[in-house]
Order: sequence, then C-alpha cells, then structure tokens
Amino acid sequence: MSRRGAAPPDHPAKGRKALGTHHLRSAPLDRTYQLIEPGPVVLLATSDRGKPNIMAMSWHMMVEFTPPRIACIVSNRNHSFAALKRTKECVIAIPPATMARTVVDIGNCTGAEVDKIARFRIPTRPARHVAPPLLPACIANLECRVVDTRMVSAYCMFVLDVVHAWTNPALRGASTIHHQGWGRFALDGRVIRLPSGKA
Ligand SMILES: Cc1cc2nc3c(=O)[nH]c(=O)nc-3n(C[C@H](O)[C@H](O)[C@H](O)COP(=O)(O)O)c2cc1C
Repeated sequence: MSRRGAAPPDHPAKGRKALGTHHLRSAPLDRTYQLIEPGPVVLLATSDRGKPNIMAMSWHMMVEFTPPRIACIVSNRNHSFAALKRTKECVIAIPPATMARTVVDIGNCTGAEVDKIARFRIPTRPARHVAPPLLPACIANLECRVVDTRMVSAYCMFVLDVVHAWTNPALRGASTIHHQGWGRFALDGRVIRLPSGKA
C-alpha cells in the first residue's frame, strides 16, 4: 500500500451538510486518553544488571527538537521502572504494524517473571552508547539517556535525550501502531503534504 497521498482533502466543513455536525456529546473523563493518545506504540528496552527487558509503551511525547528530547510515562508497577530509574538508559524502538500482536503480548507480561526477549524471539543487537539492546526488527531505534527525573515521583515521567538514532531501511514506509485503548489500535496510513512554515 502506498503511503504517499494524492491531493490533500478539502477543508472538512466544506460541502458538508450543516445538520447535526455541531451536535456534541459529553465524553467520560476516564476515556480521554483514548481520544488524544498519539502513539506510535513503542518498545522500551532497558537492561538491569546485564539482563535486558522490553515493555510496550504508548504514553510518550516529544519535548524538544535538538537535542531530541522525549518525555515518557513508565509506571512504577512495571519491572522496567526500576531499571530505567537506576541505569538512566534505555532504547526506544518503533515496531512495524506486522509486530502488533507480539508488541501487545510484550505489554501483557512482565520481565519480573519471564525473559520476554527469549519468549518472543526478539532479535537484538548491541547499542552504540547505552547498555540496553537495539531491536533491529523495528523501524527505528533511539538510544536514550534520562536527563530529568524531577517528575518521576509525581507522575512516573522520565525525560530522555536521544543520543543516537537508527533506522532500518528495509522497513522504510512501514506502518506504525497507534493505541486507542482497551485493545483497539489504528495503523497509520496515507501521507498527505500541506504547506507549513513550522517544522
Ligand atoms: C499497547 C500498550 C501500551 C502500553 N503503554 C504503556 C505506557 O505508556 N506506560 C507504561 O508504564 N505501561 C504501558 N503499557 C503496559 C506495559 O507494557 C506492561 O505493564 C508491561 O507488562 C510492563 O513490563 P515490565 O514489567 O517487564 O516492565 C502498555 C501496554 C500495552 C499493551
């Protein structure tokens, strides 16, 4: 499937029937995250005393262009939390949609009980700057160091700097997975281009 779009669509309001388009409905606050959560779902690799582990993660956001800085939420109920807090290193890997089932399985068990890399036969490769491994079956791998832990105790929020980024040319254009909550996922699709002065 081509991800290059044809002409951008017209303004959404143009030509639409007026009737009903402005009827709004209250949405439950405990479902708000399903509306705004951006994805892509990523795999977070950590390494605790030489033992690598991976978890699924979709609560993350860019904070700065350069150096590339990312904020992410890693629950303190997860095995990965202690490793990330202690070592201050991780790899964020962006899996292709073809890995979706495996990614969800990885997010539904804990490294405290299973060796997920062995169980799910995830290929790994040493990273250049950090101890956690790269996951070369993914579209991209970001080697990261924790640069700010001030929000960890309040929100389990870590701020990371990307110190090296890798992409897999064989997966160029592959679709990513976007979590919409409770087992519902969207795969990214058509690309459109619109004039924008901003990056
Ligand atoms: C699609 C998906 C997205 C997830 N996103 C997050 C997240 O952003 N932060 C988080 O702490 N846990 C998230 N989880 C849950 C962890 O992946 C899960 O608790 C995992 O078992 C933790 O593994 P660990 O105990 O080996 O660290 C997600 C799970 C799934 C399936």
